[in-house]
Amino acid sequence: MKIGILSSGGDCPGINATIRGVGKTAIMHYNMEVIGIHNGFSGILNKDFQTLDQRSLSGILNLGGTILGTSREKSFRKLILPDDSHSSIIKQKYDELELDCLVCIGGNGTQKTSHILSRIGLNVIGIPKTIDNDVWGTDITFGFDTAVNIATEAIDRLHSTANAHRRVMVVEVMGHHAGWIALYAGMAGGADVILLPELSFDIDRVNDTITNRAHQGKPYSIVVVAEGLRTRTGKIHPADYIARMIEKETGIETRETVLGYIQRGGNPSPYDRNLATRLGGHASELIAERKFGRMVCINGNRVDSILLSEAACKLKLVPPDHDLIIQGQRMGISFGR
Ligand code: F6P
Repeated sequence: MKIGILSSGGDCPGINATIRGVGKTAIMHYNMEVIGIHNGFSGILNKDFQTLDQRSLSGILNLGGTILGTSREKSFRKLILPDDSHSSIIKQKYDELELDCLVCIGGNGTQKTSHILSRIGLNVIGIPKTIDNDVWGTDITFGFDTAVNIATEAIDRLHSTANAHRRVMVVEVMGHHAGWIALYAGMAGGADVILLPELSFDIDRVNDTITNRAHQGKPYSIVVVAEGLRTRTGKIHPADYIARMIEKETGIETRETVLGYIQRGGNPSPYDRNLATRLGGHASELIAERKFGRMVCINGNRVDSILLSEAACKLKLVPPDHDLIIQGQRMGISFGR
C-alpha cells in the first residue's frame, strides 16, 4: 500500500513525532510506501511531496514544527464541497498520486475537511493535533501537554516579579475558543484567578478576590485568562482588558503578558512524543486493516478510533463541573463568578 501524510492547520510540538510514528510503523511493520505531502492540503493540489523513508524519518522525534510544512485549510475546504466540481480535482490528484490512503494530521478544521474528503471517495485517516485540546472525540491531543508545560513555566516565573513589585500579573494563554490551557496551566501555576471562555465572569468578583487578598496581606496576585474570553459586548483582548479593569478598580499596579506563539514552539514534551507515537502507530494499523474514514483518539488510557463524521461535528470545551474547577473553587481560586 502507498500512503500520503500531511499536516494542516496551526503547528504544534509533536507533529514530527506523529509523522515518524505513522511512517516508521507503515514502512517497517507493514511494508508500505510513504510520501509526505507539503504544506497541508495545498500539497495535494500542487502534487508537492517528498518520499519518506527511514533516513528522512530519523532524528525528528523531538523536533518542533513540521518537516512537511502546514497551511490553514479553510481556503482548501471551499474547494471540496461534495456538490462542487472542484471535488473531482482533489480526487483526481489523489488518484494521480496513486495513494491508497491519506493521513491528515490536524485540528477541528482539518478533521472536518478530512470527513468531506472521505465522503467524496478518498480513503482518509485523521490524527487529532492541537495545543488547544478542543478536538471532539479524543480525551487529549498531542501539543496540549507541551503548551501547558510552557505556560506553567511562564506563570511560575511571574510569581517572583509580581512579588518583588507587589503587582497583579495578568497572563493570557492560547486555546482558541476553549479554556483547557488556561485551566491546566492556571491550576499548575498556582494562579489566584482563572478566567475561561466556558464560564461567564463578573469583573467585580475578580476585583473583590484581588482586593481581599491584598487586605489579607497577600503581596501579589496571578490572573490567568484564556484568549477566547468574551464579555457581553463581545470579543476583547483579554489580557489588556482585564489588566486595565483590575488596575482601575483596585488601584493595584497591574501588568499583562500575552504568551502567544511561544506555546506552540520548541520541542514536544516526552508525554507528547509518546502520545504522538501511539496515535501514529494506530493510524498505520487502521490503514493496514483498511478501516478508513476514522480518526484515531485516546479513550481513557487506550488508543482507539471514532468515525470522522463524529469528530467533525463540534468542539470539546471545558465542562463547567470539571474536577479541576471544582477543586480550585474549594481552595479559594476565583473563576470570576
Ligand atoms: O489552534 C491553535 C492556535 O494556536 C490557537 O490557540 C490560536 O488561537 C490559533 O491557533 C492562532 O492561529 P494562527 O496560527 O493562524 O494565527
